[in-house]
Amino acid sequence: MQVQIIPGSVQFAVVGLPDKAVAESRERVRGALIASGLALPAKRITVNLAPADLPKEGSHYDLPIALGVMAAIGAIPADALGGYCVLGELALDGTITAVNGALPAAIAAGARGLGLICPAPCGPEAAWAGGDLDVLAPRSLIQLANHFKGSQVMARPEPAIAAAHGPLPDLRDIKGQEGAKRALEIAASGGHNLLMNGPPGAGKSMLAARLPSILPPLTPRELLDISMIQSVAGELRGGALSTRRPFREPHHSASMAALVGGGLGARPGEASLAHGGVLFLDELPEFTPQVLDSLRQPLETGEIMIARANHRVVYPARFQLVAAMNPCRCGQALEPGYACRRGPNARCMAQYGARISGPLLDRIDLRIEVPAVSAADLILPPPEEGSAEAAARVAAARRLQGERYAARGLSNATTNATCPATLIEEVARPDAEGAALIRSAAESLRLSARGFHRTLRLARTLADLDGEATVRRLHLAEALSYRGRAERPEAA
Ligand SMILES: Nc1ncnc2c1ncn2[C@@H]1O[C@H](COP(=O)(O)OP(=O)(O)OP(=O)(O)O)[C@@H](O)[C@H]1O
Ligand SMILES: [Mg+2]
Repeated sequence: MQVQIIPGSVQFAVVGLPDKAVAESRERVRGALIASGLALPAKRITVNLAPADLPKEGSHYDLPIALGVMAAIGAIPADALGGYCVLGELALDGTITAVNGALPAAIAAGARGLGLICPAPCGPEAAWAGGDLDVLAPRSLIQLANHFKGSQVMARPEPAIAAAHGPLPDLRDIKGQEGAKRALEIAASGGHNLLMNGPPGAGKSMLAARLPSILPPLTPRELLDISMIQSVAGELRGGALSTRRPFREPHHSASMAALVGGGLGARPGEASLAHGGVLFLDELPEFTPQVLDSLRQPLETGEIMIARANHRVVYPARFQLVAAMNPCRCGQALEPGYACRRGPNARCMAQYGARISGPLLDRIDLRIEVPAVSAADLILPPPEEGSAEAAARVAAARRLQGERYAARGLSNATTNATCPATLIEEVARPDAEGAALIRSAAESLRLSARGFHRTLRLARTLADLDGEATVRRLHLAEALSYRGRAERPEAA
């Protein structure tokens, strides 16, 4: 950015493809400077945002523009800003207000050997970028000017962690549903996608909400990755990072921009906000089919690309998909002895299920039926085992996966679900009996190539849960059972 002050008619101009918010920053900067006791010279001031052909969006250019002008008129030392990356919005009274994206800005600044000047509320977030990064988080223009003059030096902000809001819901609350709990544990162990199909009130939403309680804790690297996305989306409250895995549950009326991102400022969507955690789609067939299909790309690649006028934004989106649905619109089609209002059960189910595309379904390794809970189950005392026991088994299985993929030098595959296809053929090579089973199953179930690899991934997870080095017939049989079941019913 350049600031030039030359004799001429009184004028303050910002050039370099500013959008509306940036163009208006002229007014905020003028107001804030005057409120801080700095009169603008009665000359022609031009601010050039380089590169000139890249559109600039948002209000975070206020602070850099103001500081540039302050340096040009001598209110702060001319060389003070050289080593800093600056972002922040200004209020008319000269205070500096919070903006999104301070954490990624801090990390990028550190990588270039620069320091960061950001608004005070963003300081605790920026401080996470590393202990040796110089972070200045002033409350106002005056405070920053005093810091540079040496009259009142600011302290580095402290990194902050958000306090957890109470304990996570526990698996112990769920009576019966042993099969569904096992599927949830498998999904957590290998990072697999899960679809639950069952009548209303069976406990599907309840089960999904308990997945975070059995997932392993975040690694420091994951914590930073997840927090960067939250920072860009403006979801870090008070600049404090959360150590909980994301659990996002967008409503089924969500638009494509809400789900995969885009819109003003290329905001990350729910799929990116679920990175490293769970994306829960309750009432799956109620989502717009096109919106659902937009998830196919991130489900495969783990990232989302948003195309803008002349640049592209790529956000990570490696989430675990958990979905719940009723078998048909009336919800009861799978109940024994039930006759659908809308004609034969099979047709009602087919119509409802058809809203979910085959390719999307193909990406879901675990598809289970969750039957209604019986009265006998409901009056049972709470189950012996809760989330703690399941989480311990999940952690053990994850440790095996972590060691396996680290030994092969894979930095971004840490679970069986993210293992590349070529490698899974090697690490999940079944014994002779298992090989025979998958060969015949691939023919009879007409598995796609993706389906084949996904079955191997799931079988690998089942073997890891058993602590076994080789994938055996029994693991493959269980893995296949999750694929075959709840398959889309034949159209009647
Ligand atoms: N297995 C269970 N053990 C204890 N309570 C249960 C169980 N299943 C359901 N409930 C009770 O039923 C309520 C509804 O469950 P939930 O919302 O999870 O059902 P659902 O399967 O998601 O239904 P829908 O298809 O209508 O969304 C729960 O809040 C809980 O009180
Ligand atoms: Mg529900």
